[in-house]
Amino acid sequence: MYSLNFDETQLEIQRVARQFAKDVVAQGVIERDINAEYPIDILKQMGELGFLGMTTSSDWDGAEFDTLSFVLAMEEIAKVDATTAVVMSVQNSLVNWIFQNFGTEEHKEKYLKKLATGEYIGCYCLSEPEAGSDAREQHTTAEKVGDKWVLNGTKNWITSAPHSDVFIVFAQTNSELKHKGIACFAIPKGTPGLSVGIKEDKMGLRASDTCSVGLVNVEVGDDAVIGKVGEGFYIAMKGLTGGRIGIAAQAVGIAQGAFELAVKYSKERKTMGVPICQHQAIEIKLAQMSMKISAARALVHKVAWMKDNGLDCNRESSEAKLFASTIANEVTREAVQVHGGYGYVREYQVERMMRDAKVTEIYEGTSEIQHIVIARDVIKNS
Ligand code: CAA
Repeated sequence: MYSLNFDETQLEIQRVARQFAKDVVAQGVIERDINAEYPIDILKQMGELGFLGMTTSSDWDGAEFDTLSFVLAMEEIAKVDATTAVVMSVQNSLVNWIFQNFGTEEHKEKYLKKLATGEYIGCYCLSEPEAGSDAREQHTTAEKVGDKWVLNGTKNWITSAPHSDVFIVFAQTNSELKHKGIACFAIPKGTPGLSVGIKEDKMGLRASDTCSVGLVNVEVGDDAVIGKVGEGFYIAMKGLTGGRIGIAAQAVGIAQGAFELAVKYSKERKTMGVPICQHQAIEIKLAQMSMKISAARALVHKVAWMKDNGLDCNRESSEAKLFASTIANEVTREAVQVHGGYGYVREYQVERMMRDAKVTEIYEGTSEIQHIVIARDVIKNS
């Protein structure tokens, strides 16, 4: 039965993350957005604090906290900077999680230890120019030639690609087998034939570098295969179940950040002789924002609890991501509205949060895909 009672460790992690977000992450956030400047120094500090290996086992130099602690920390970081938060989410819940659960001892020694401490940044390369929502349509191929795998193809929308030390790449080994022919590979940076394309000029999350990744006759051995050949699609999907929890927490954080700024502004700004928070039109907005954030946060905490208790949470992960991303867009839009004209300028930050919120409805599965995942589970299990 689902019930929540945060323990001292979880509350301490939340306190540390909140303080770090305020003292370090919030500094320069407007400039990083303007200049599209990746927060590499902040990420290094986060690695030292254990935030990049939060749920990774201590056997592999991770902090070995639970998923609840992870979502509490994610919310605090995303509240001030959604960009830093997305890198934290991808590293923890996609890259590290895949290595920890499917990687060999050698992978863990070579990559996971460094990822968990922030010495390495990693990326997850599933999407392609023609394989976004339809992830099984992998055009990237991996062909066995002698004792080598030779990979060719293009990956798209890869978070952190230019800074990555290791690339988790999904590729088709036998198109006749469709998704059962997909394999997952760990490819270190610098491997001949592996290249990173130019940075996308994005609407939001401007400081997280998003690039394409090219693979031209990239040769790796069997030791690069993560899991079994043919298991790649399942690894990708299982990773995304956890990844979506991280993005849901990020969306709650973005909404909470915008909400707090809207409340503050509404108490300071006066019209018709009173602070605008005393006008019913604004009161209704604040109440709606508060209620929606609480509901989204409850879904995020519930799915994190389910994951920590070893329960199948694929549907709940999509529910949390779908709902939290929807309300993050609604709340940030209302936060801009509460600010009036000031909401439309960078200094007041809510316009950035509104731009950042949008992608939470797109990446790690669009809202349309989340509906499919939820509905299929409902139909199968009802
Ligand atoms: N866990 C384990 N297995 C799963 C699974 C899961 N979560 N989801 C599906 N599967 C299995 C199914 O059981 C099925 O197994 P069998 O064939 O052996 O019976 C197999 O995978 C195929 O599943 P489906 O028939 O459901 O596959 P589909 O092609 O109809 O649909 C989908 C799958 C849900 C639409 C999927 O393609 C999907 O999630 N698409 C969205 C992709 C996505 O989220 N991309 C994000 C890119 S990463 C990113 O954005 C990261 C970043 O950098 C920020």
